[in-house]
Amino acid sequence: MYLTIDLISPPGCLLASMDLDDTEQDPEIKEYSSVCVGREDDIKKSERMTAVVHDREVVIFYHKGEYHAMDIRCYHSGGPLHLGEIEDFDGRPCIVCPWHKYKITLATGEGLYQSINPKDPSAKPEWCSKGIKQRIHKVTVDNGNIYVTLSKEPFKCDSDFYATGDFKVIKSSS
Ligand code: FES
Repeated sequence: MYLTIDLISPPGCLLASMDLDDTEQDPEIKEYSSVCVGREDDIKKSERMTAVVHDREVVIFYHKGEYHAMDIRCYHSGGPLHLGEIEDFDGRPCIVCPWHKYKITLATGEGLYQSINPKDPSAKPEWCSKGIKQRIHKVTVDNGNIYVTLSKEPFKCDSDFYATGDFKVIKSSS
């Protein structure tokens, strides 16, 4: 049996995962347990924060009253999304990667692009989706603490490449 309490936490967090009975914790249970990444008051001021959740580096945004967490490195070529600007495209809030300006929806991780009709070049370009490219993680708030739970979605996201292996952990300031 496992008991989860918070002991190893960022400043202000009261909880973190720890196996108290000294037995090996199931790696899958551990990987998908929620991790406290900071305080609600702090992210509401800064509007974004970075964290390492079970060896995966993520960025958490607070935008227009909602929280969003995603892999920190851009699915295109590993750009640092925590340094990008948030803009609306087609009414959808997106992080714009600072490296090549790809647009990624905060809510779903879809890559957006503008399409023109070659048969009617005078028509207004339309925003289209490439599908989910950036892995989105779950954010919950409890007692003023922000928790991130890694996505368990089985499909492969392009951003997985930059969240594993040699690219696994980057310096948050890069
Ligand atoms: S690395 Fe993000 S747009 Fe190229």
